[in-house]
Amino acid sequence: MRKTLLNNKKSLELQKKALKLIPGMTQLLSKRPDRYCRGVWPTYFKEAHGIEVVDLDDNHYLDFSIGGIGATVLGYADPDVNKAVIDVINQGSASTLNPPEEVFLAEKLIELHPWADMARFSRSGGEAMAIAVRIARVATGKNKVVFCGYHGWMDWYLAANLGKKGALDDQWIAGLNPNGVPKGLKGTAIPFYYNDIENFKKAIAEAGDDLAAIVMEPIRNYEPTQEFIDAIHFTAKEKSVPLIMDEITAAFRICNGGAHLKLGFNPDMAVFSKALGNGFCSSAVIGKKWVMEYAQDAFITSTNWTERVGSAAALAMIDKFIKVNAAKHLLDISDKIWKIWQNTADKYGIKIHIGGFKPLIHFSFDENHAVNISYFTQEMLKKGFLAGSGFYAMYAHQHKDVEKYAQAFDEVFSRLAALIRLGKVDENLEGEPAAGGFERIN
Ligand SMILES: Cc1ncc(COP(=O)(O)O)c(C=O)c1O
Repeated sequence: MRKTLLNNKKSLELQKKALKLIPGMTQLLSKRPDRYCRGVWPTYFKEAHGIEVVDLDDNHYLDFSIGGIGATVLGYADPDVNKAVIDVINQGSASTLNPPEEVFLAEKLIELHPWADMARFSRSGGEAMAIAVRIARVATGKNKVVFCGYHGWMDWYLAANLGKKGALDDQWIAGLNPNGVPKGLKGTAIPFYYNDIENFKKAIAEAGDDLAAIVMEPIRNYEPTQEFIDAIHFTAKEKSVPLIMDEITAAFRICNGGAHLKLGFNPDMAVFSKALGNGFCSSAVIGKKWVMEYAQDAFITSTNWTERVGSAAALAMIDKFIKVNAAKHLLDISDKIWKIWQNTADKYGIKIHIGGFKPLIHFSFDENHAVNISYFTQEMLKKGFLAGSGFYAMYAHQHKDVEKYAQAFDEVFSRLAALIRLGKVDENLEGEPAAGGFERIN
């Protein structure tokens, strides 16, 4: 193991313990330290407010990374969402009866998405997607799902990798292992590429007359072309299958609700999580009555989907997101960050590629990405920032914070450029280079 100059003794001790007690170390791949720079990345927090995070060793950071992996769109411990949550906790967060907030939340989501008539709720993104796909399969009586994008850890999705090896590699993360997914599901999930109409048609042809649903994220890296939107709508209608919009990452970023509202997609169902609860567990499936009613013919039920915090948090998040016009703030902040990245990289002659959609953006180095990005992360930690290749804007990011980030970014890129010229980045790395795919962690 390399030796770091950072003060992270307690963090490293807990990581060691976690490795023994928790297979895979964390519950979410994206929160593993090897995704950033193992040995230096703090991994655990004890406090988080606004954009400030305090780690176990009492280091304070401003978070310019991916904001709770996109879950905390307003910021950490948002006072308004916290108040709503604390109120329902004090009133009683669970009982034999149901919380009225779930009905209010259904009403609110349908008001924001007037094409929808009904809603069901759960607590995580992956399970909400499984609910949507289950309902679609019941509604159509068919099995095969044609999809693009990332949709979680469930069998219906990972089944894609039972067919062609690495079928999911170009959708989001490479190397997702379908071990444990029944082999019998082979052929039931067929991927296509975003904005690629010919590829989409090929996937539809492969599903033949067993097509149950078209599933997609409204946006991940590029805006959809009108021809692509038209092809998706035309096929869903022609085949009489629901178009399911996975808004788990995209919603409540560019507008007040699903990104499809702004991009021009007309889905039959839409699925929300992440930003919805601002860090509290909340997810929703909304849809048109013709398809949603089939939920009554399927066994879709879970005790903890009825607790009160998830819907109370979601109602408070939506209210605040709209009231403060968070979508505009997120766009302004991420626009600034995009420019900082590009201008600084140009200034020091470092070639980077910037992608994603504002306010969810990322950059990568054209050369030696894993080592360079980990060095960047390490040096930004020393300057008091959580930073990596991705940036998800939160409402709590202030313009004055962005200025501090710009200064630190400039200093780190200046040093990085010098080390690249000398071929000495790797020897100045105090942790491990970032892992890209899905590997075991030991
Ligand atoms: C578009 C999309 N769908 C589904 C998921 C899975 O959601 P969760 O991690 O809450 O299970 C994610 C998570 O990143 C996502 O981005």
